[in-house]
Amino acid sequence: MISLKDVERVYKTSNATVHALKGITLNVKQGEIFGIIGRSGAGKSTLIRCINLLERPTRGSVIVDHCNLTTINKEALRHARRNIGMIFQHFNLLNSRTVYQNVALPLELMGLSKKEISSTVHPLLELTGLTEKANEYPYHLSGGQKQRVAIARALVNKPKILLCDEATSSLDPKTTHSILQLLRDINEKLNLTIVLITHEMEVIKSICTEVAVLHQGEIVEQGSVLALFADPKSDIAKEFVKAATRLEMPIALRRRMRPQPTSTTHPVLRISFMGQSAQEPFIAYVIQHYELTVNIIQAHLETIRDEAIGIMIVEVMGSADNIQNAIAFLESKGLHIEVLGHAPRST
Ligand SMILES: Nc1ncnc2c1ncn2[C@@H]1O[C@H](COP(=O)(O)OP(=O)(O)O)[C@@H](O)[C@H]1O
Ligand SMILES: [Mg+2]
Repeated sequence: MISLKDVERVYKTSNATVHALKGITLNVKQGEIFGIIGRSGAGKSTLIRCINLLERPTRGSVIVDHCNLTTINKEALRHARRNIGMIFQHFNLLNSRTVYQNVALPLELMGLSKKEISSTVHPLLELTGLTEKANEYPYHLSGGQKQRVAIARALVNKPKILLCDEATSSLDPKTTHSILQLLRDINEKLNLTIVLITHEMEVIKSICTEVAVLHQGEIVEQGSVLALFADPKSDIAKEFVKAATRLEMPIALRRRMRPQPTSTTHPVLRISFMGQSAQEPFIAYVIQHYELTVNIIQAHLETIRDEAIGIMIVEVMGSADNIQNAIAFLESKGLHIEVLGHAPRST
């Protein structure tokens, strides 16, 4: 549905050149909820604005619904953009217009009749839970209600894609949850493809199917959200996952740990498992079968888009060979193992 190829965006200001995007290639499939996570300044807003060409890439191509937006003329671009709705962190509503009038605005600008407008706007107010609020002005609404108005307005042209730029970043956790639920609903009901950017792993975790990690203008990691949690590869992804799971090694242990094993150390592992493997007692099995002692330092069960994933940090004691074999066995059963370091035996 969306395909970015080698997209680069350079900003030139009077005293600096900023490479905001350094050759981004990514594909979003129809019906996906695709999340892009990154720290502030990573290039997220620039990237999402390149998808509807609010920001023109310095290089590379942007193909949306089989149409190369970087090569078409203004009129064709205006038309193609109707296929792409967008919402923002700060809602961007007009305070002088009611909820109904805000949602109706894009259709008014297109010159549609009152009747046509009404037959589109009312069902959208219904869908977003705003029917009662139709005649209210934005200053009477909560943040969550304002974002619902923005969502309804973004849907008036029946777009195939919705872009969300930090759409829940100024909302409290409960309101965030209800807006994410609404996005998930419309993704399913309208078969809408959603691309969202965020700096919060909670958002990715609760509604995204795919995720890309953006760092300093580059995608450093990409895959299913479950895979990212089970087995983050880049330092930045590890950091996001750690923050979201609140799994931290005790400081005393971290201080004792070494990067390389010696004859007097034993490994500290991060073990993650999901789906079927979460249900079978593999850990108990390896302890017995490979004669190991396992000290569970932390354990955490996570639900990601209705799937359970378990993450544990453990110290493993036993013969080096047996530990190697146990790791190989667990990996063959689909568990992900990362050696975090080596701790000296405490006597
Ligand atoms: N219009 C602009 N002019 C100059 N620099 C910009 C402009 N927009 C963004 N940048 C720079 O590009 C980088 C990425 O910004 P942005 O895409 O807004 O990141 P994010 O949304 O991840 O916080 C930052 O270093 C920012 O300062
Ligand atoms: Mg931004």
